[in-house]
Amino acid sequence: MLEVLTFPDSRLRVKAEKVTVFDGELARLAEAMMRAMYDNSGMGLAAPQVGEAIQMVVTDFNAPDHNPATRCPKAWVNPEIRERTGEMTTEEGCLSLPGFRALVARAESVTVVYQTLEGESRQENLTGLDAVCLQHEIDHLSGKLFIDHLPPVRREMIKKKLTRQARSA
Ligand code: NI
Repeated sequence: MLEVLTFPDSRLRVKAEKVTVFDGELARLAEAMMRAMYDNSGMGLAAPQVGEAIQMVVTDFNAPDHNPATRCPKAWVNPEIRERTGEMTTEEGCLSLPGFRALVARAESVTVVYQTLEGESRQENLTGLDAVCLQHEIDHLSGKLFIDHLPPVRREMIKKKLTRQARSA
């Protein structure tokens, strides 16, 4: 069972390496990440959040339903946003920042290029909450957290609370 790292763990701030080997180990990691995502009722999880500094995220855009019958897990390897259009503000949370939610403005639509677990190149257009979720996860690959999008005062307040929480845990 993978442990999801929480702020202020420094491993959440690393720049993840590109994946170059598409083998069983990568597929097993993706599977373990999906299990951790479901166990924690998340909609997405990035490899650095489980201490693996590689460019891979997993998502399930149906996950808010928490219905195992409609699960739609997907792994995105070396994902990169090529185009952003529009703007959309939604309330975000993150498994690495437990207990905090905040409004974040992001692109409403994105075009993303990525590779499958087998190394095949793909391109997809996403809009709305799906696009927001993937942008949030891709941020993790460069060590960025959703609080980094907030005004400095609010960001510092959340950081202080989280650091205090971590110390008393
Ligand atoms: Ni997150």
